[in-house]
Amino acid sequence: AALSAISRSFSTFQKPNYAFAFDIDGVLIKGKHHIPEATRALKLLNGDNIHNRNIPFVLLTNGGGVTEEEKARQISKLVGIKIDPKQVVLSHSPMQNLATKYHDKRVLIVGGKGRNCYDVAKKYGFKEAVTPHDIMHWNSSVWPYSTPTSDLSILTSTAALNFPKLPIHAVMVFHDTYDWGRDLQIMLDVLCSQGGIMGTRKPDYTIQDVPLYWSNVNLSSHLNTDFPAPRLGQGAFKIALDSLYKTLTGSDLKSTSFGKPHGATYQFAEQVLELLEPQSQSSRRRVYAVGDNPAADIQGANGYGWTSVLVRTGVFTGKGNSDDFPADIVCENVEEAVLNIIDKEE
Ligand code: G3P
Ligand code: MG
Repeated sequence: AALSAISRSFSTFQKPNYAFAFDIDGVLIKGKHHIPEATRALKLLNGDNIHNRNIPFVLLTNGGGVTEEEKARQISKLVGIKIDPKQVVLSHSPMQNLATKYHDKRVLIVGGKGRNCYDVAKKYGFKEAVTPHDIMHWNSSVWPYSTPTSDLSILTSTAALNFPKLPIHAVMVFHDTYDWGRDLQIMLDVLCSQGGIMGTRKPDYTIQDVPLYWSNVNLSSHLNTDFPAPRLGQGAFKIALDSLYKTLTGSDLKSTSFGKPHGATYQFAEQVLELLEPQSQSSRRRVYAVGDNPAADIQGANGYGWTSVLVRTGVFTGKGNSDDFPADIVCENVEEAVLNIIDKEE
C-alpha cells in the first residue's frame, strides 16, 4: 500500500500519458449558455496548488463558421477558462490540408454568416476562394428568390467576377448554409457544369470533375439556438443536395466528408495534441473523447481507438448507454467524466 501511495504521488510529477478531447455543443455549452460543470472540469485539468496536473486537452467540435481564434475567444468567455486557439479543432480545421492542392485554384466556399467562412478559407491558404455572395453579385438571376447582398464588404471582390471565364475547381462546405435554396441551386450549377463553368452542363453525368467536400455531416444539432428541439444541420443539407443531384442526373454525387466521426478529423486532432504536448513515453497516449452525440462523438472515438465517454447534457438523454454506438464510459456530465478518469489514471 505504501509503495502504491509513493508511486501514486510520484505519478503526479510525471507528464501524464493521457489527454482529453472535448466536444463543445452539448458538453461545454448548450445553446447560448455554458454548462456549469464545464468550468469545474476544465479547471481540474489545469490543476491547482495541490495538483500540478497540466493534462493536455483539445476542443473537438463539428461546429465552425469562424476562425479557431474566434471560437477560442467565444468559449473562453462563456466557460470562463482561457482556451488557446491551438487547442481548438473545428469541423473545417482539417480541411486546411487541402490548401496544398487548391492554394491557387478557385474554390467555392459555402456556408456561414457574412464573410466569416471566406476569412477562414483565406487563413487556411485558399487564395482564390469565392462564395455564393460573389455569384449572386455577378448575376442575381442565378436564384431570383434571394436578394444579392447590399453589403459589398462581404464580397471577395467588389467588381463582379466574370464566372463564365473563371472555372470553379472544387466546392467546400465550411458551415451550415444561411440560404438553403440559393446554395442548393448554386452548388448544383457548379457540380453539373462542364469543368466548373457556371451556366454550362456536362455531357456525361457519370463523370464528376468538380470535387465536393463537407466539413460536417451532422443531421441535426442544437446549433446556436435555445429552441428545445434539434435543428437541421449540414448533414440534412447534404441529403437534400445528394437527392436532387441523383434525381436530376441519374448519377450518385461523390464527396469527401470531414468532421466527427470521420478518421481524418481524429488524425488531425492527434497531431494538434502532439504539438501542444509532445508525448514523452513510448506507449501511445490514451485520449478520452467526451461527447454528447453517439453518431458523431462516440462512433468517431470508437473507430479511431480513443476511449469514448458519453454524457447526458446534450443530444443523448436516454437511460444507460447508446444502443447504436455504445460508449466505453457513460457519465451524467463533463465534470463527472473528468473526475472519474483522473481518479482512474492517477
Ligand atoms: O452540428 C454542428 C454543431 O452544433 C455540433 O457541435 O461541438 O457538438 O460537435 P459539437
Ligand atoms: Mg455535441
